[in-house]
Amino acid sequence: MLSAATFFLGLFAAVKAQTSVGEWADPVAGVTWTRWTDPDLDVTTGWVFPPLSGGQAPDEFVGIFQAPSSGGYIGSSLGGGMRENLLLLAWTDGKIPRISPRWATDYAPPGPYAGPRITILGSSGNNDEHQRIVFRCQNCTTWVGGTNGIPAEGYGVFGFAYNSFAPPLDPSDINSDVYRHSHIDMFGVDVGAARNPEYSAILNTLTNAPLFGSPAPEPTTTSSAPKPTQSVYGQCGGRNYNGPIDCATGTTCKRANEWFWQCVPN
Ligand SMILES: *[C@@H]1O[C@H](CO)[C@@H](O)[C@H](O)[C@H]1NC(C)=O
Repeated sequence: MLSAATFFLGLFAAVKAQTSVGEWADPVAGVTWTRWTDPDLDVTTGWVFPPLSGGQAPDEFVGIFQAPSSGGYIGSSLGGGMRENLLLLAWTDGKIPRISPRWATDYAPPGPYAGPRITILGSSGNNDEHQRIVFRCQNCTTWVGGTNGIPAEGYGVFGFAYNSFAPPLDPSDINSDVYRHSHIDMFGVDVGAARNPEYSAILNTLTNAPLFGSPAPEPTTTSSAPKPTQSVYGQCGGRNYNGPIDCATGTTCKRANEWFWQCVPN
């Protein structure tokens, strides 16, 4: 006979796909992250930490937030709980990535927090299916309060918060008020294992990665040579595409999917 506990565990497993923490080879940026993901929500948050330097943990990491484009914002507590820990909230404003350090002393909307130096990196953006915010966070591993910071080695506790439908009130303002999260979770990350000796190379790759979800930018050129033109139904854009982006007269470049933009008749 099933015990009540077995029954409820079984029920839980049946309705909820397993969230997990593990290594993830990100096909967009070509970087391997340590990530937490919820496959039901289709959300991901991940990190790469730099190697210890002289036994000390550098005060930074690179991170990623990815969620459906329909999501309002995605965020993390770098100390697990919401109160008295460094919080990061991220979203895209149209195609523009935004990320906001926050702090809460209570279970109330978190306010702006000064100190972290955050740089948005390449492969961030919005392709109408997913929003991606990839960033470098410096002065982000210690704070006063809560867990006082991310441990140099061993397991750190991280929190996840997501609003699946309501963007911040003013998405253009990183300090905008936000609605309450619709989903939260808490999990452990082996920070020592998420340190990567190739951190500098990864940072460089991410810094130089093209924006996510926009057609390839027109190559800047100093010559006045005529630009190559793509013929009708030819490819004119998409992820990793390097060919001509101007369409023949009478056709317009339109998105078929994230990999393929095509010159279609007007
Ligand atoms: C680092 O962040 C803390 C807040 O966590 C802040 O008090 C401090 O001034 C910041 N340091 C620098 C060098 O920006």
